[in-house]
Amino acid sequence: MLSMEYILTVSCTVLQNAFAMLGDAAADYFQSGNSDDRRAWERVRLDGKVCIVTGGNAGIGFATSQRLAGMGAHVILACRSKERGEAAAQAIRTAAGTRDPSARNDGKTTLNVEAMELDLSSSSSVRAFVQTFNQRNIPMHLLICNAGIMSPPARLASEGLELQFKVNYLSHWELAVGLLDHQRRLRESACGKPKATPSGQSSFFCLEEQGTRVVTLSSCTHTAGALQWSDKQSESFYSPFVSYAFTKLAAILMAKELTRRFDSNPILTGKYTAVAVHPGVVDTFLAHNFLDSQGKAWLGATGALILNMYSAFKKAAFDPLMRSPSNAASTLLFAALAPAELVAGQYVKPPRTVVANPFKSVADTGRSKELWEYSERLTGICAGDTLL
Ligand SMILES: NC(=O)c1ccc[n+]([C@@H]2O[C@H](COP(=O)([O-])OP(=O)(O)OC[C@H]3O[C@@H](n4cnc5c(N)ncnc54)[C@H](OP(=O)(O)O)[C@@H]3O)[C@@H](O)[C@H]2O)c1
Repeated sequence: MLSMEYILTVSCTVLQNAFAMLGDAAADYFQSGNSDDRRAWERVRLDGKVCIVTGGNAGIGFATSQRLAGMGAHVILACRSKERGEAAAQAIRTAAGTRDPSARNDGKTTLNVEAMELDLSSSSSVRAFVQTFNQRNIPMHLLICNAGIMSPPARLASEGLELQFKVNYLSHWELAVGLLDHQRRLRESACGKPKATPSGQSSFFCLEEQGTRVVTLSSCTHTAGALQWSDKQSESFYSPFVSYAFTKLAAILMAKELTRRFDSNPILTGKYTAVAVHPGVVDTFLAHNFLDSQGKAWLGATGALILNMYSAFKKAAFDPLMRSPSNAASTLLFAALAPAELVAGQYVKPPRTVVANPFKSVADTGRSKELWEYSERLTGICAGDTLL
């Protein structure tokens, strides 16, 4: 039976999301007229910077990849379907060519976008991606852990772990650790062991040449995630929504713990950073699929009339308040490019607000350390205390 704490927490989270949507829609509306702000974003150049975006073929990941490529970055779309990834890379090139025909070169633009295969539901696919990327011996300046699923019909991944936990959190943890470890070694062998530098103010809108920023995709649903803490694989009770919320709490804890580990190493501090982001409620497959499937699950028994009324209500009242993927990408880019001293280890929400302490469970470093150690046990990877 559901406890009162469970019902209250989930209800508060849903209401909080609804109010946040109103605020985000208003902020996006007023900011859209701020042309100075837009120009500042468009002036940023990321030539030579390598960015990996998981789930870069659709939704928020696609919009973010498109913006990064337009800024000159070398963007790698890490997608579970190579075909969908390649189609997305081509769509980014084509759109840029349409906007700026002078950039065309034999029907192709000069944008540096490519697709690589990565299925986050499979450990072997994650390991293959890490190995293939690491063998290229190129830097990784930005890793956006974006791909995600919400309330899928299947419940378990092939390894017997809860599927959302595996796809949204654990595989991203394994991916980040595998790539960061090689990056650290690569930079050491290229320039000798780098010396610790005094931490100064970094410039705005940049990526550290000698470091990496990791951005994890959270959600304001994370407040309900603490309910799942003592049952991380939803073994005793499975609520698709709360299990999803738990993965989004885990995304915040991962950014916090990565930052704590980077900062405990004088060589990495300030250069290697991690940030968690809530992109808003965004007009994508994930959000629509969740609202439609939950509507059916909750109201299905009441009959077709109520279901149709729900669909009409959703369309009229909810859909217009959703953020566009492009506005969500602006929030992600802020988290990716803003100076370390502003965002490292923090939680960013729309439009570009840094929240130091989004929820009391997140402030507890004990929890982020516990989750890190749990991830090490599940994957058999010992990531070390300082990633050194
Ligand atoms: N939309 C929102 O309102 C909202 C709110 C808060 C947080 N978020 C977070 O934002 C992130 C992006 O979501 P979105 O709204 O852009 O959703 P989306 O449009 O459904 O895109 C999800 C992406 O993740 C990929 N993906 C799913 N399972 C995967 C797997 N096993 N391996 C690799 N890639 C996989 C999808 O690939 P396919 O195309 O092959 O399926 C797709 O590229 C998610 O982490 C989500 O939790 C979204």
